[in-house]
Amino acid sequence: MKIVGVFICVLLCFSCKEQHKPVNSMPEKSSFQLYSMSEMALLMEQLYVDNMRIKDAILSDANIADSLPSHYLNLSTAVLTDPTDRDLFFDKQMTEFIKAQRLVYEVETNRKENFNAMVQSCISCHQVKCGGPIERIKKLLIP
Ligand code: HEC
Repeated sequence: MKIVGVFICVLLCFSCKEQHKPVNSMPEKSSFQLYSMSEMALLMEQLYVDNMRIKDAILSDANIADSLPSHYLNLSTAVLTDPTDRDLFFDKQMTEFIKAQRLVYEVETNRKENFNAMVQSCISCHQVKCGGPIERIKKLLIP
């Protein structure tokens, strides 16, 4: 039961769909999909964790890795839940995002500004492609 709860939470809290849907309105059939997150969704969760760590490092004036981790290369090919999401807009936003993320890893000055610009670039894509996690992504911003 616990496991099912976790996956329902994954669906309600983190997926692209609108949040706060009552659980009992979910059709039985779709509950099967709860068990498989797409490659891209998993990768995005990884980016979230990476950047939460970087935020902590910036706030405590600690070092972060000085080059982009290799899993960022998978962003251009990772399979999406909805493959039609990968269009011109998506590719352009992804290129912008990777550029912004690279600055966060490689540039030692203006760390907070570079970091927040990178988070804005996550949000710019999400506003069009995947609204669900935006409130969560905003928690990355450094005040
Ligand atoms: C170029 C567009 C784009 C950029 C940039 C982007 N995302 Fe996403 N994100 C998506 C799409 C599309 C999905 C849905 C993936 C799927 O379901 O296959 C997603 C899914 C997610 C999810 C939900 C995964 C789940 O549990 O279903 C989170 C969290 C997330 N992104 C966080 C981030 C963060 C944090 C950043 C920046 C560090 C970011 N995203 C940058 C497009 C983007």
